[in-house]
Amino acid sequence: MITPIEPQVVQGTTGKPLVDLCRHHFPLLRQRVNGKPLVYFDNAATSQKPQIVIDTIMRYYMEENSNIHRGVHYLSERATQAYEEVRSKVQRFINAASDREIIFVRGTTEAVNLVAYSYGRTHVGPEDEVVISALEHHSNIVPWQILCQEKGAKLRVIPMNDDGELLLDEYEKMLNVRTKIVSLVHVSNALGTINPIKQMVALAHARGVPVMVDGAQAVPHMRVDVRDLDCDFYAFSSHKMFGPTGIGVLYGRESLLEAMPPYQGGGDMIKSVTFEKTIYNDLPHKFEAGTPSIASGMGLGAAVDYMNQINLDAVAAFEHDLLVYATEALSKIPRVHIVGRAKEKAAVLSFVIEGIHPHDIGTVLDLEGVAIRTGHHCAQPVMQRFGIPATARASFAFYNTKEEVDILVKGIEKVIEVLG
Ligand SMILES: Cc1ncc(COP(=O)(O)O)c(C=O)c1O
Repeated sequence: MITPIEPQVVQGTTGKPLVDLCRHHFPLLRQRVNGKPLVYFDNAATSQKPQIVIDTIMRYYMEENSNIHRGVHYLSERATQAYEEVRSKVQRFINAASDREIIFVRGTTEAVNLVAYSYGRTHVGPEDEVVISALEHHSNIVPWQILCQEKGAKLRVIPMNDDGELLLDEYEKMLNVRTKIVSLVHVSNALGTINPIKQMVALAHARGVPVMVDGAQAVPHMRVDVRDLDCDFYAFSSHKMFGPTGIGVLYGRESLLEAMPPYQGGGDMIKSVTFEKTIYNDLPHKFEAGTPSIASGMGLGAAVDYMNQINLDAVAAFEHDLLVYATEALSKIPRVHIVGRAKEKAAVLSFVIEGIHPHDIGTVLDLEGVAIRTGHHCAQPVMQRFGIPATARASFAFYNTKEEVDILVKGIEKVIEVLG
């Protein structure tokens, strides 16, 4: 039995804050850590899962488990149908034109690798250029670096200012006839900056350059419409948007995907195979070799249902409020410096404390039951830009509260007291 979401949440009719309506859907948040109520502020690393996602995965294994796309028996057909329904849900969720444009992958990392490998290897040659930004996660740097090294192409990086905002003038100057693709993060995991993707796509398209967007940190926090953004590829991970690990999505414009060679070979991505020749399957299966993470797919479907039932505009507004509250509170603590003060920011608060290593901040906060992330956040070039080895990062979701921010603030005061 899958726990339904209460009708008042679905309809948004109570006038109560979102968190009051939704927090109890997340069973893990009820636990205590080190004797204190858990404060989970590591949502940018991975989000917690609502009961409906957990129940859906359990039900799949109890009632539907079977391999997909290959059996004629009842269970296989049922699982195939359910899995393909998830694809259609995802298509509608991001407003893609067709479910042929929705490729299931392991996550954002695999999506970028797929595009760099398949599109990149066929379109990028010696002396060509690939443009990324100074805000990228390693998963949107290294695949392009590998491609450029292999092809003798050049990786160009859009710089940012001291607030963590990209310099659009520099970006515009960078685009030229040698630019073969632009790949940009939508929301920075290290600083929270929201990039003006629609504008940046338009600038690239004006020169005939396609744009890939890393949406790992955007999809959990705001409404994403790939047709409105007009991007050519868009990647995100289920586990950051309240779904399970092991699955993610690559959206690709159908005309581009159609022309791209497969990324991996194997079962399911073929129509026929002889030793002489293989005829590849149609989209989207051409890019989905082998047995996928089926149970995770079902969980992703439940996560999409869940996100459709809470109001995503309310999520963005609530989290913005929380971010402003936390930013003001942390700014008042002596020796605390916030890293990343972009005007457009989402759900991430990176900070350092003078004289105290971020790992020590994280360890003391953990004793208070507060889970934050410390380190370079897989964005070492961002750290290098600010001349620091690491930051402490609190990242929020709509199930977090101002009371939890107060606990974080008290914890930081304790860190300073204990570690001097
Ligand atoms: C902005 C951004 N891009 C890409 C990734 C990689 O996502 P995954 O590890 O789910 O592939 C992350 C993960 O933290 C991220 O924050």
